[in-house]
Amino acid sequence: TRDFLIAPSILSADFARLGAEVDDVLASGADIVHFDVMDNHYVPNLTIGPMVCEALRKHGVTAPIDVHLMVKPVDRLIGDFIDAGASIITFHPEASDHVDRSLQLIRDGGCQSGLVFNPATPLSYLDYVMDKVDMVLLMSVNPGFGGQSFLPGTLDKLSEARRRIDASGRNIRLEVDGGVKVDNIAEVARAGADTFVAGSAVFKGRNAADPHRYDSVIRDF
Ligand code: DX5
Ligand code: ZN
Repeated sequence: TRDFLIAPSILSADFARLGAEVDDVLASGADIVHFDVMDNHYVPNLTIGPMVCEALRKHGVTAPIDVHLMVKPVDRLIGDFIDAGASIITFHPEASDHVDRSLQLIRDGGCQSGLVFNPATPLSYLDYVMDKVDMVLLMSVNPGFGGQSFLPGTLDKLSEARRRIDASGRNIRLEVDGGVKVDNIAEVARAGADTFVAGSAVFKGRNAADPHRYDSVIRDF
């Protein structure tokens, strides 16, 4: 039996009060903070960088920060995020010229490493680096925006990723990102995921009675 982790994506938080939003979701039962970094180059949107990660640490966030790099090139930002207090750093293999080196840079910096697979990216990128990843992240939408619909083809891909992870005998988390909601999370878990990113579902699920709590949606997961 695996332990399941809920990772709210702060892409859907109110950036004007980000520290409080992160405090609120963690107090409401979230396990880790999913931090989406977009560069308007690898993906068509622009978000937040290492300074914001560092600011959350200075604010007092102690939970793991799961940095999802949607940037090209990746290596320079890996160093910056290590210095900024990241816990997990994942990147898209197509965006790195040297996938093995980028994974090694992350581990050398004391962070957990991972590869992210777009809907059309084959899992064969894992073939020679299974011993260098702590997390496999499957995108269930095309990256760039919150609030998109879960692509059903992800379920079979999750099962395949689960088989590869189990066959490796390694302790590797299987994360899913995009369109995860209360009404599909059980199916996604059955397909093999153990770590669930949810942006719009969490941040639209603020408790009616207490605007600082998100327990009802996080509990429903
Ligand atoms: C999309 C991001 C996701 C996004 C998920 O490129 O990587 O983390 O915030 O948002 P929802 O849960 O709304 O699909
Ligand atoms: Zn993400």
